[in-house]
Amino acid sequence: MTDRIDAGFGELLDRAGNLGAGKSMTPQDGSGAGQAWSPSSWRSKPAMHIPADYPDPAKLAAVEKQLSSYPPLVFAGEARTLTAKLAEVAEGKAFLLQGGDCAESFEEFHPNNIRDMLRLFLQMAVVLTFAGRKPVVKVGRIAGQFAKPRSAPTETQNGVTLPSYRGDNINDRAFTKEARLPDPQRLLQAYSQSAATLNLVRAFTQGGYAGLQNVNTWMLDFVQRSAAGRHYREVADRITDTLDFMAAIGITAETTPALDRTSFFTSHEALLLGYEEAMTREDSTRPGEFYDTSAHMIWIGDRTRQLDHAHVEFCSGVKNPIGMKCGPSLAEDDMIRLIDKLNPDNVPGRLTLIARFGSDKVAGGLPKLVRRVQKEGRKVAWSSDPMHGNTETKGDFKTRPFERILSEISSFIDIVESEGAHAGGVHFEMTGQNVTECTGGSTQISAENLSQAYKTACDPRLNNEQALELAFLIADKLAKKRKS
Ligand code: PEP
Ligand code: CO
Repeated sequence: MTDRIDAGFGELLDRAGNLGAGKSMTPQDGSGAGQAWSPSSWRSKPAMHIPADYPDPAKLAAVEKQLSSYPPLVFAGEARTLTAKLAEVAEGKAFLLQGGDCAESFEEFHPNNIRDMLRLFLQMAVVLTFAGRKPVVKVGRIAGQFAKPRSAPTETQNGVTLPSYRGDNINDRAFTKEARLPDPQRLLQAYSQSAATLNLVRAFTQGGYAGLQNVNTWMLDFVQRSAAGRHYREVADRITDTLDFMAAIGITAETTPALDRTSFFTSHEALLLGYEEAMTREDSTRPGEFYDTSAHMIWIGDRTRQLDHAHVEFCSGVKNPIGMKCGPSLAEDDMIRLIDKLNPDNVPGRLTLIARFGSDKVAGGLPKLVRRVQKEGRKVAWSSDPMHGNTETKGDFKTRPFERILSEISSFIDIVESEGAHAGGVHFEMTGQNVTECTGGSTQISAENLSQAYKTACDPRLNNEQALELAFLIADKLAKKRKS
């Protein structure tokens, strides 16, 4: 029997599933075969990209123990709601917009950054809903997106070699020996930043700010001057006209509370499994069901999706909706085995496959995967990450050309739809800030401009204008498909 969190949650906790605070080791076979799953069963498997060089492993274990008694960040019931919404995405009835920082950082933690990201998200969702005539499921890479897989374990600068930066919940970006040592205290700071971020996100989305009647007040500064901004104003004006009409016939936020709020979910890569395990709770209203309460949705990265390794093991047993990145190295047979391990009951909404090929590889790699999924009758949602296959180096900077990002999404939509499946969504690295990290777009950021505001803690993000512009271009494409 697990301890119950019973103080202060009342009705909300009951509705959400009365989550227990402790971790039960109730055996549960997540794969349908082999060794029983538990929140810690991943520990007996090979694990890539998890640091093994914590100077004091006992301290790490103590921090993980402490985290396992902390309040959950999300509820089981919310994760189930997201699964149901993603089932609609899989069936072509809704569109998934997932996005946020490549890596959240302690340094950029500020309410204005969270607000600006959310405003951008709401604007993009409005544009996509308007064109696609489908609900947009909003999932941030936020409130927990810290740990990063790196292409090399070490980094060399001016002849000095140090361990790579792995994300603010592990070590520090500064290029010194001390900064690059993994520090377990960072897990506690990441938890507290995630909790505060989620709290503000919940306030913004539930407290009236996200109501459609505010569609004109979400304008970011750039909306006044850019082409995408002017286009947005037109859409916002049409929505305002529609709301005025609805109000005239008696439909307002008072009569229809849904108009005044929106649902927004959190997600991150489930990379640092010690943290994810510590945040995993058994749902005491459904014994034997475990949820990773660090986020509503978690995903498995392209570098950690080996069938018999730790990350797939962990994700196979928690009940959250799961994403899996699919890149050029994923063979069709392996994909089917992974699908069956992660979603043995073929539940729609449980699994989202996130294609990240690169604009030059998507036509060669994606069709056979979609065709095979269709042929075998597996129910998945398909989403496009047009960022991670399109990274290039310009001078001192990693960047991504807007044109390649757009081209990959466009190919993705055509390919998935021509195979008879639904192009369900997009997955962006983006920020509400006016950074210069990706080149191109209507503001014409050139390689020479990159140094002006290059702030990312890891990969280059779309800035606010580029992200909104992309939303319009995707919306145009979806609207044409809808009408054809
Ligand atoms: C990411 O989404 O930040 C990431 C590392 O992606 P991928 O696993 O697709 O490389
Ligand atoms: Co990234």
